[in-house]
Amino acid sequence: MPRSKIAGIGMYVPANVVTNDDLTQYMDTNDAWIQERTGIKERRYAHRTEETTTTMGAEAAKIAIERAGTTAQDIDFIVFATLSPDYYFPGCGVMLQRAMKMKEVGALDVRNQCSGFLYALSVADQFIKTGMYKNILVVGAEKHSFGLDFTTRGRNISVIFGDGAGAVVLQPTEKEGQGILSTHLHSDGESAEILAMYNPGTHANHWADKNYADFDDAPIAEMFMSHAMIDKAQNFPFMDGQSVFKKAVVKFPEVIMEALQANGYQSTDINMLIPHQANLRISQFVQQKLKLSDEQVYNNIQQYGNTTAASVPIALCEAWEKGKVKEGDLVCLAAFGSGFTWASALLKW
Ligand code: UT7
Repeated sequence: MPRSKIAGIGMYVPANVVTNDDLTQYMDTNDAWIQERTGIKERRYAHRTEETTTTMGAEAAKIAIERAGTTAQDIDFIVFATLSPDYYFPGCGVMLQRAMKMKEVGALDVRNQCSGFLYALSVADQFIKTGMYKNILVVGAEKHSFGLDFTTRGRNISVIFGDGAGAVVLQPTEKEGQGILSTHLHSDGESAEILAMYNPGTHANHWADKNYADFDDAPIAEMFMSHAMIDKAQNFPFMDGQSVFKKAVVKFPEVIMEALQANGYQSTDINMLIPHQANLRISQFVQQKLKLSDEQVYNNIQQYGNTTAASVPIALCEAWEKGKVKEGDLVCLAAFGSGFTWASALLKW
């Protein structure tokens, strides 16, 4: 059975740099708080109308496709991970197929938030291993800046997120000791509402606390989106940050060790760990727990914030471009986030 290898990788971030100080014009926050709690110094925001999640994904994809020595016409499957799609439906996969003038290939959207890229990579990996496809484009992209609460009410979330995209082309390889060794996917829906965007949605408070909108009396036209939902900021992401933090620092090391053990490695064997860029403090905790040196972990949340599904491919791409990921290196990718979902992938570059 062939393995999949990352044949090409690309990233795209918008030109517009937004510093922590810039955010103080919208909300009661400050550079010291943001840096101390998250490590973030600045992030990028997409152009309001000219850039979308799909267009940013396409920019990253163009680079990945060129580096893989192939063309958009040769892509035989698309997997697109995002939580901030251009439309509620259809998904960004088909929008990318159209934007890049690809053949009428399958296009799958993955909705696993911070773990989205690793879920997408795992799906693509299975299709390569079975021989079904030979050139799969895997994209993680987000345009968070269009859906954040830019008031003091939303400051615990809005200061964290940034926009951007990363993409890889997966191809089969028969080369000994190269490619994706394994992927590991997990979920625990018990805490789904701890990090979620409640509305619009079809749940009608079936799961969530009954106290935020009275659906029993709501006119049918207001079931999907109402002024009350907007007044209560339910059209923006909600996060209980401390609960997410506590779970993340347990599940990150666990899923990394799972990948290492599945392949007979130890943490000392890792040449490069690329953690999802959720919070620099989480990455540092994981590094400490696994006794990794600074050279074994790559972080760039300082420059881009948390770009959710895009964060792992952006960080991997940047590390590779800087020569920090080289042929033969043992690379571990890991993520944790909303759902909760968490995942890892171990690969030989
Ligand atoms: O990728 C998705 C997964 N997400 C994560 O992994 C996030 C994990 N969680 C975190 O990163 C942290 O919980 C945060 C960075 C989100 C928040 O840090 P924290 O240390 O947990 O702060 P907190 O929410 O407990 O808030 C502490 C204080 C509060 O004020 P009081 O009640 O103590 O007066 C907040 O209102 O900090 C206040 N605060 C802020 N102050 C200035 C919250 N956000 C801000 C802000 N600027 N942006």
